[in-house]
Amino acid sequence: MIHKLQSIKAKDYEGNLVFLYGDECAERNLPLTRKEVELIKARRERDKNFVQPFDRLPNRIYIVSFDSERDASVCQEHLRRSAMQLLGMLETDRVDELAVSGDGTLPEEVAAFVEGLTLADYSFDRYRSKEVYHLQSLIIDSVYFTPDELEASQHLWNRIFWCREWVNMPVQDLNAAAFADELASIAADMADVSCTVMDKKQIESLRMGGLLAVNRGSVDEPRFVVLEYKGSDEAPICLVGKGVMYDTGGLNIKPEDYMQEMKSDMAGAATMASVLFAAADNDLPVHLVALLPMTDNRPGYNAYAADDILTMYDGTTVEVVNTDAEGRLILADAIAYAAANYKPQLIVDAATLTGAAVRAISTFGIAAMQTGADNPLTMMKLVGEQVYERLVEFPMWSEYDELIKSDVADLRNCGTTPQAGTITAGKFLAHFAGKVPYVHLDIAGVAYFSKPQHYYRVGASGYGIRMLYAFLQMQDMINE
Ligand code: BES
Ligand code: MN
Ligand code: ZN
Repeated sequence: MIHKLQSIKAKDYEGNLVFLYGDECAERNLPLTRKEVELIKARRERDKNFVQPFDRLPNRIYIVSFDSERDASVCQEHLRRSAMQLLGMLETDRVDELAVSGDGTLPEEVAAFVEGLTLADYSFDRYRSKEVYHLQSLIIDSVYFTPDELEASQHLWNRIFWCREWVNMPVQDLNAAAFADELASIAADMADVSCTVMDKKQIESLRMGGLLAVNRGSVDEPRFVVLEYKGSDEAPICLVGKGVMYDTGGLNIKPEDYMQEMKSDMAGAATMASVLFAAADNDLPVHLVALLPMTDNRPGYNAYAADDILTMYDGTTVEVVNTDAEGRLILADAIAYAAANYKPQLIVDAATLTGAAVRAISTFGIAAMQTGADNPLTMMKLVGEQVYERLVEFPMWSEYDELIKSDVADLRNCGTTPQAGTITAGKFLAHFAGKVPYVHLDIAGVAYFSKPQHYYRVGASGYGIRMLYAFLQMQDMINE
């Protein structure tokens, strides 16, 4: 979808138009006849939130009515969602080009609506032989944004699309080596992003026992990708992302249909790479290092087994209790590597880590935990509310430490009881961050939707990118 800015006079615009109508004051400026205005007024008396199309043959006008008096973030999220409803109508009407305007509508409201329409328009098309409907171009009234503002948003949306595309791709076409190559070639075209790809030999010489163990059952080599964007001289924020290209469970193989959708188990890595690229696109004054361990998890001939005891990058020994708790093993090496080599001000990881997170809060937000990073996580919760990618903080009480103690090693890779599975996973990871302020984001519930949700179709969402980007924007204000 192409976005353009243009001055729009709603009343005499010739073309398909959507008019955002949130406030009675704008009534006189509705691009409608008197009778049509009466109809809109009557509908608003029952419920302020609806989309009403009117014919202007050969075009159409769509009135998106909303309630501008609600809490700003709720109102904006409503507009994102109503964009999805509108998109359904646009598809039926085969609209190629649409103009957006309003009256008394705030720039943030228009931005949210455009964002919803843009995110909703994405679908995973590359394996389809039939053409799929997409809105071709969106003309936005130039009173709302400067060209620079629009460009910055487009950069972010494009990064979200690429994240979704990678997550949607099956492992047959995106294994660790292919994903690493893809990131390296993107970085090569960006002046201020560097990329280091470590192959199996290098990972062996780093003694990343977790990543190597998970990879042992696979015919595909692992990769460890490090991206760096140095937009400031501050100590870096390290972004660690789980890159399990496919999670069969390993020898503890996933039963029945639990394996389905596990191509999405690299969403954390895709998210963190996308956040770093977006920050670089828009020259945010932050220093970022993304550390992305990648492998699939399979029950091959030499696959790692329960009872194996691994020695991790930092020397910690880990008893494998279940080969399906593989994410924390590859992340532990990457987190320890970040802490040891970058003197980070903060480590944040994103990972589709536990089914327990989905059971706890369903598909409506991120399960978050922190050690020594109360302020950063509070900030993330705040911006998360604003962009409506929400976080809920889980406790990190010391009692949970007991649940991951092993009889034969320093730690076990899953809890002694199945209770609090999301927290024991977070506790396990926090061990490897040591004293570095650390935030853990379990995105298992939100990275990939099995059914359409709001402005997302079935499949990858890119959920969390907007929140982390907004967090980094705040960071720049704090540092100034
Ligand atoms: N990738 C899965 C977690 C997952 C489950 C993500 C469902 C998205 C949807 C992870 O590797 C896993 O298998 N976790 C196990 C951990 C258990 C063995 C301790 C789980 O949650 O069952
Ligand atoms: Mn697993
Ligand atoms: Zn997994």
